[in-house]
Amino acid sequence: MGAMTNARVLGKSGIEVSSVGMGCMGITHASGDPMPDNDAVQVIRAAHEMGYTFFDTAECYVGRRADGTEAHNEDVVGEALAPVRDEVVIATKFGVTHAPDKTILVDSRPETIRASVEGSLRRLRTDHIDLYYQHRIDPKVEPEVVAGVMADLIKEGKVRAWGISETTEDYLRRADAVCPVSAIQNRYSLMAHWNESLFPVLEELNVAFVAFSPMANGFLTGAYSHATHFEGAQDYREGMPQYTEEGEKRAEPLMRFLHELAGLHSATLAQVSLAWMLRKKPYVVPIPGSRKPERLRENLGAAEVMLTDDEIAKIDELLDGLDLMVFGGHAVR
Ligand SMILES: NC(=O)c1ccc[n+]([C@@H]2O[C@H](COP(=O)([O-])OP(=O)(O)OC[C@H]3O[C@@H](n4cnc5c(N)ncnc54)[C@H](OP(=O)(O)O)[C@@H]3O)[C@@H](O)[C@H]2O)c1
Repeated sequence: MGAMTNARVLGKSGIEVSSVGMGCMGITHASGDPMPDNDAVQVIRAAHEMGYTFFDTAECYVGRRADGTEAHNEDVVGEALAPVRDEVVIATKFGVTHAPDKTILVDSRPETIRASVEGSLRRLRTDHIDLYYQHRIDPKVEPEVVAGVMADLIKEGKVRAWGISETTEDYLRRADAVCPVSAIQNRYSLMAHWNESLFPVLEELNVAFVAFSPMANGFLTGAYSHATHFEGAQDYREGMPQYTEEGEKRAEPLMRFLHELAGLHSATLAQVSLAWMLRKKPYVVPIPGSRKPERLRENLGAAEVMLTDDEIAKIDELLDGLDLMVFGGHAVR
């Protein structure tokens, strides 16, 4: 298991994970119609066999099958990993549901969290969640209240460690003071690197940075362009700003340089884009998602691509001069 030789640690929890984790969202949600259940289970098992030990899901990653029934991501993750439960770290999230128009609805009231944790444990076929994230900040609930519920769940043995997704520094500090936070999960990629401003507080509080959409929703792999037609209403990539002609044009200098580095390192674009963040900080853990075993293997291999300090500096210098368009935020500088 090559990946475990490159294991990373989830902050204060001390929990070890493969340096690249598997983002499972796209299997049922946001990347087209859900995969057939059997295929979904097989691809997650294949990921474990090739060395992934860190799996990311959420209560709200629910897609609709052609027959109208719901495909719960936690359900397939739970079924796939049940036989190897002790060998893997499962992260899931509470506090978000999706409205029919894809808008995010947030709710982190203690009673909602309590109901969520029971549903997640059941679907995941487990008696504990290794890492439980608040999926989005709920402006109506103070961080101290959420952290208090997490402290209780940890005491009860239902949760081993907790984290916050799309956190701010202030929220993290307040939550951490009540119940130590082990990881954040924020958007982070070459095209979305504004959250690097959190590095100092993560180091101060010993919190891992789990990077979601680490390849800018697939854009950085070079496999898609503005001309790509994403199949089906359940594919959220359609219409993302990086997948427009303008977005692609602005990213051209970056993609050219990534091609150059890929050639130098006998690597792929996906690997170079993940290697960049792996080299940046030892506590960054990207969780790229794919439905395809060969791509999962490729992404895991990013941990072996040793970009030099000089190459990292050159990438960052190039990024400083670009005005990129990417889903999830603002143009970067
Ligand atoms: N906390 C949050 O709010 C939040 C938000 C979004 C995502 N996430 C988490 O982050 C994970 C990853 O994010 P993401 O799926 O949005 O973006 P991503 O990992 O940046 O990109 C995934 C896309 O890239 C494609 N892909 C993956 N590996 C590839 C490769 N080697 N070559 C070519 N194409 C490749 C995949 O398509 P195929 O499947 O066809 O390979 C998929 O469409 C999710 O699974 C989820 O667990 C969390």
